[in-house]
Amino acid sequence: MPRISKKIIFKSLKGMHDILPANQVLWDKMRQNLREVAGFYNFLRIDMPLLEDAQLFEKSTGQDTDIVEKQMFVVKSSRGDMALRPEGTPSVARAYLQHGLSHLAQPVKLYYEGPMFRREQPQAGRLRQFHQAGFEIVSSADDPVYDAQVMVACVRFIESLKIKDLSIRINSIGCKVCRPSYRKKLVDYYKPLTKSLCDDCTRRLRTNPLRLLDCKNDNCQPLRGSAPIMLDSICANCSKHFKTLLEYVEDLKLPYALDHHLVRGLDYYTKTVFEIFTEGIDFALGGGGRYDYLIEMLGGRHSPAVGAALGLDRLVEVIRLKDVNLRVKPKTKIAFVHVGNLAKQKSLALIEELREAKIDVIDFLGKESLNAQLSMANKLGAPLSLIFGQKEALEEDIIIRDMKTGSQETVPLKRIVKGIKRKLK
Ligand code: HAM
Repeated sequence: MPRISKKIIFKSLKGMHDILPANQVLWDKMRQNLREVAGFYNFLRIDMPLLEDAQLFEKSTGQDTDIVEKQMFVVKSSRGDMALRPEGTPSVARAYLQHGLSHLAQPVKLYYEGPMFRREQPQAGRLRQFHQAGFEIVSSADDPVYDAQVMVACVRFIESLKIKDLSIRINSIGCKVCRPSYRKKLVDYYKPLTKSLCDDCTRRLRTNPLRLLDCKNDNCQPLRGSAPIMLDSICANCSKHFKTLLEYVEDLKLPYALDHHLVRGLDYYTKTVFEIFTEGIDFALGGGGRYDYLIEMLGGRHSPAVGAALGLDRLVEVIRLKDVNLRVKPKTKIAFVHVGNLAKQKSLALIEELREAKIDVIDFLGKESLNAQLSMANKLGAPLSLIFGQKEALEEDIIIRDMKTGSQETVPLKRIVKGIKRKLK
C-alpha cells in the first residue's frame, strides 16, 4: 500500500529566527554604523568561517564553561568534531596565528560581524542563532589604552543607534600571578556553604570557583554578598593596569560602574572584564575583556589582547522595547510604470539602461493596470514615475510624472537620464 505522507509545516528551529525584509533596513543601518565606527577607530574587517574545529573552543573558551560544556552545536566528522562557532574571539586568535598577522604593524585591530550559535534555553535576549559585532585588539603590550579603545568603540556604536542611558560594568579578575590566591580565598569562603549551593556551583567550586560569583540561582546569589572581592587581591601590576584604565575611561567620559561580582563565563579572560547595559533592560548589550594568554595558549608568541562583542539581536530588541526612533526608511526609488505589451517587452532592456546610468527604479512588470501601478508608486513614496506606454514605445520617448504635483513631461528616451535628474533637482 502506498505510504500516505503526512503534510509537514516547516518552521524555523527553536531560538533561530528569520530576519524579514521589513527589518532589513534596520540591520543595514546597524551594519553601516558598525563599518563607520570601526573605520574611525581603525579596526580592519575580518570574516571567519562559521564552522571550526571544536577543540579550538574547548581550548580557548574553556572546557568547563557553559558554552562548551552545554551549548555548542557539534557536527561530527571523520576528522574529528567541528562546532558551529559560539563566539568569535577564538576564531580571530586562530586566524591571527594562521595568517601570520603578528607581522602586521602593531597593534592589530580587527572587527567582525555575523551569526554565532549557542544551544541555550531561548528567552528574551537569548537566541540559539544570534549575531555579534566584535572588536579585537592584539598587540605586543597589555596597554590599558587598548581596553579603553575597545570600550569607546562599543559605546559609540551603541550610541549611534540612539540607545541611551548606557553603563559599562567593569571589574578586574587579575592575572596568572594573583588569581590563584584569590581562587583559594573564594574556595575557603564557599566550602562551608556547599550545602546551600546549586548543583552547578558545587561542581564549579572544584572546576571554576570564580563562576560562583555570577550564578543566577536564588540560593547562590545572596551568598556572594559577603564573598571576598577580587580587587582586594589583585597584584600591583593588575592594580596599576586597572587604575590607568579607569583614568582613561573617565577622560573619555564613558558611563561606568565597578562591579565586584563580574567574572564573565569564558575562561580566557585576564585583568579587565566588562559588560555594557542600558537602563531598564536586564540583559547585557555586550561584553568583553582582556585575554593576554589566549594566543600564546594556541601556540603563538606572548600577544596580549583585548576585545568585546555586542549582541546585534539584543540591540534590535532594545530599539523595539525602548521605542527608539532611528528614522530608518528604505531608499525611495523612481517608479517604472508600463502600459501594454509592446512597452512591457521593451521595458527590461530600458531598465538595464537606467541601472547603468545609476537611476534606481522599481518596476511593476507583473501588473497591467496603470492606476494600480501609480497607486503602488504613491504608496512607496516615489518622487517620480516613468510612464512607458504603447505610444511612447513606438515613438521612443517616455513620460516623467512628478508624483507630488501630478505634472507630466514627455522626453525622448535618449534624454531620459538628463530629464530625470532635472526633475529631481
Ligand atoms: P559574550 O558575553 O558571550 O562574549 O557575548 C557577547 C554578547 O553577545 C552578549 O553581551 C550578548 O549581547 C550577545 N549574546 C551572547 N549570547 C547570546 C544569545 N544566546 N542570544 C543573543 N545574544 C547573545 C563573547 O562572546 C566574547 N567573545 C566577547 C569578547 C570579544 N571578549 C573578548 N573579545
